[in-house]
Amino acid sequence: MWSVLDAREFSASTLCLAVRIMSALLSLYFLLLYIGKSISAEEADCRVYNNLYVCLEGETLQSVAFEDVHAVQTIEDIELHLENLGITHIKENAFNDVRNASALYLRDNRMSKIFRHYFHTLDQLTYLDLNNNSISDIEDGSFVRLVSLETLLLDNNMLSKFRLGTWKGLTYLHELYATNNTLALKKNMFKGLSHLETLALDSNGISEIPLGTFNGIPHIDLLYLSRNLISRLNPDVFRGLREVNELDLGRNCIVSVSSGVFRHMKTLESLWLNGNFIATLEDDVFEGLEGLSSLFLNSNDFTSVKMSAFANMRNVTIEPGFKIDGSPVIHFGKIHGLYRCTSSGYQEPYECEKVTK
Ligand SMILES: *[C@@H]1O[C@H](CO)[C@@H](O)[C@H](O)[C@H]1NC(C)=O
Ligand SMILES: *[C@@H]1O[C@H](CO)[C@@H](O)[C@H](O)[C@H]1NC(C)=O
Ligand SMILES: *[C@@H]1O[C@H](CO)[C@@H](O)[C@H](O)[C@H]1NC(C)=O
Ligand SMILES: *[C@@H]1O[C@H](CO)[C@@H](O)[C@H](O)[C@H]1NC(C)=O
Repeated sequence: MWSVLDAREFSASTLCLAVRIMSALLSLYFLLLYIGKSISAEEADCRVYNNLYVCLEGETLQSVAFEDVHAVQTIEDIELHLENLGITHIKENAFNDVRNASALYLRDNRMSKIFRHYFHTLDQLTYLDLNNNSISDIEDGSFVRLVSLETLLLDNNMLSKFRLGTWKGLTYLHELYATNNTLALKKNMFKGLSHLETLALDSNGISEIPLGTFNGIPHIDLLYLSRNLISRLNPDVFRGLREVNELDLGRNCIVSVSSGVFRHMKTLESLWLNGNFIATLEDDVFEGLEGLSSLFLNSNDFTSVKMSAFANMRNVTIEPGFKIDGSPVIHFGKIHGLYRCTSSGYQEPYECEKVTK
C-alpha cells in the first residue's frame, strides 16, 4: 500500500517537474527566438568610424559610442566626427552614450529637417556643424538644451526662414553661419541670440534688409551679407549695431547708399561695397566712419562722386583708389565738385574726371 502510493506520488512529481522543465525550456526557446528576431529586425549596421562605434539602420543614426575616447579628445574638445554618412534622420537618444561631447560634426549628410529630439542629450556641446545637408526646416526648440553652444554652422542648406522658437536656449551663441541658403530677412529674425558676434548670411538671394532685422543682437562684430541681391539700404537698417568691425555688402545690387546709413557704426574698421552698381556718392554717405581703415569700392559704376565724402575718414585705405589727371588722390577734402570715375580692371584705380554742369 505504502509503496504503491509512493510510486504514484513519485511519478506525479516527476511528471510535474518534467512539465515545468519543458515549459521553462519552451519559454527560453521563445525568448531566444524573440531576441533573435528583434536583432535581425533592426538590422543595424554598426561600424567603427572616426574612433566611434556608429550604428545606422538604413539612413537613421541609431547610436554613437566611444570606441577610443582618448582619440576623440583634444585639449579643449571631445569631438564626434559623423560627416558624410548619408544620415537623413537621428533616433531619439542616439547620443546617450556620448553626452559629454563638445563638438559635433554632421556636415555632408542628408538631413532635411532637424527635429526637437535630435540633440537634447548634448548639453555640453559648444560647436555644431550642420553644413551641407538639405535642411529646410528646424523644429522649434531643437537647440533648447544646447545652452553652451557657441558656434552653429548651417551653410549650404535649403533654409528659407527660421521659426520663432528656433533660437530658444542659444543665449550664448557667438557665431551663426548660414551662407548659401535661401533665407529672406525679417524683423526680429535673430531676436534671442543676445550674445551673437558673427553673423554670416552671404549668398542667400536676399533682396531686402527690413528695418529691425538685427533687433536683439547688439553685439554683432562681423556681419557678412555679400553675394546677395540687396539694392537699397534703409538709413536706419543698421541702427543698434554699435560694435560692428567688419561689414561685407560686396557683390550685391546696391545702386545708391543713403546718407548716414553707417552713422551708428563708430567701431567699423572694414567695409566692403565692391561689386555693386553704386553710381553716386554724396558727401555724407560715410558719416560716422571716422575710424574706418579699409574701404573696398572695386567694380562699381560711379557717375557722380563727391570726393569730400572720403574726407572724414582720417586713416582709410580705399581699394582700388582714385586718380585725377593720372595722380592718386590723397587729400580728399581739398577736391571739390563732382567726378565721374571709371576703372579698367578690378584692382585698377578709378580714373576720375570732373563732371561739368
Ligand atoms: C566622456 O565620457 C566617456 C564615456 O562616458 C568617459 O570615458 C570619458 O572619460 C569622458 N571624458 C571626459 C573628459 O569627461
Ligand atoms: C556635400 O555633401 C555631399 C554628401 O552628402 C558630398 O558628396 C559633397 O561633396 C558635399 N559638398 C561639398 C561642397 O562639400
Ligand atoms: C550651395 O548649397 C547647395 C546645396 O544646398 C550646393 O549644392 C551648392 O554647391 C552650394 N554652393 C556653393 C557655392 O557652395
Ligand atoms: C593708420 O593705419 C595704419 C595701417 O592701417 C596703422 O598702422 C596706423 O596705426 C593707423 N594710424 C592711426 C592714427 O590710426
